Amino acid sequence: MVDVEQKQGKATPSGDLAAEYAQWQSNDRREIIPPLGFREYWYPAVLLKKVGKHPKHVKILGTDLVFFRGKDIEVACISSVCPHRGGNFQEGDCHWKGTITCPYHGWTFSETGELLAVLVEGDDSKLPHLGINARTYPTRVLKGMVFVWMGEGEPAPIEEDVPPEMFREDAHVLFHLEYWLVNWRQSVENAADAHAPYVHRNSFRTGQVAIGFSGPVGPRADAVNGRASIVRSFRGRGIQDPPTFVNFTKLGHKWPKSRWRRLWNWAFKYGVKRNAKAKPTWSVLEPAQQEEWGGSLLHLPGMVRLDQRG
Ligand code: FES
Repeated sequence: MVDVEQKQGKATPSGDLAAEYAQWQSNDRREIIPPLGFREYWYPAVLLKKVGKHPKHVKILGTDLVFFRGKDIEVACISSVCPHRGGNFQEGDCHWKGTITCPYHGWTFSETGELLAVLVEGDDSKLPHLGINARTYPTRVLKGMVFVWMGEGEPAPIEEDVPPEMFREDAHVLFHLEYWLVNWRQSVENAADAHAPYVHRNSFRTGQVAIGFSGPVGPRADAVNGRASIVRSFRGRGIQDPPTFVNFTKLGHKWPKSRWRRLWNWAFKYGVKRNAKAKPTWSVLEPAQQEEWGGSLLHLPGMVRLDQRG
């Protein structure tokens, strides 16, 4: 129940609502989210064409990595910190294919991180026979993009973290890389929160349909194969048309304020319905889920998939 003071906006929630609010607060887990990101995932790292004769530096999750061409694998990835005395592999050399040499004392490692030679000691050196290894990271090249597994354990199937189009021969994938000076949590939250029906209500695309109402519960979160967390947005297929407007009782007004949008919606109605009937291609979802939910979703740690069908 909501009391009078609360209705007037003068009090914090009471009764059932207060209990619900307290529960919500106790469930707040934001503080345990790692500021530098979740590690047990595959991440897009660098375009294959950018990995050439020299070590290519990329920083991911606060870790400095170096990519270079492999011999038995397409692209190798190694921590930029040399296990000898911390020399920086970013300044190193790839004298022989599938190897990287530290710029400080010439320790030379294979694409799997095994120490092969110490160039300053000659072939008599015993060090290459002691089982010394540099930290390497598994990689996979798909559609010209090098993905890297940042986790400590065995890599999960990359299919769980990468859009299915990356494996389809008939899919054309375009890449655009851009650095944002923001912590990853803000950008992911922005993709998942409920600002769009208000902030973007008059953009060309969202203006084609009735104004959105996300409801008090928000999108549904779920896990794929017990690890890949996803948040799905509620959209299009099989869903009833949203209301033209909503009366807000405490406010005493309706939203949206005018009905001009209906004319605009009518003009785009045919195209919107036709697009909504197109089959989704998101194979991570079960077929039944694809029917129920559209293809838009947020897939942790940082993939946002937008369904532009309708
Ligand atoms: S620090 Fe890398 S070889 Fe010595």
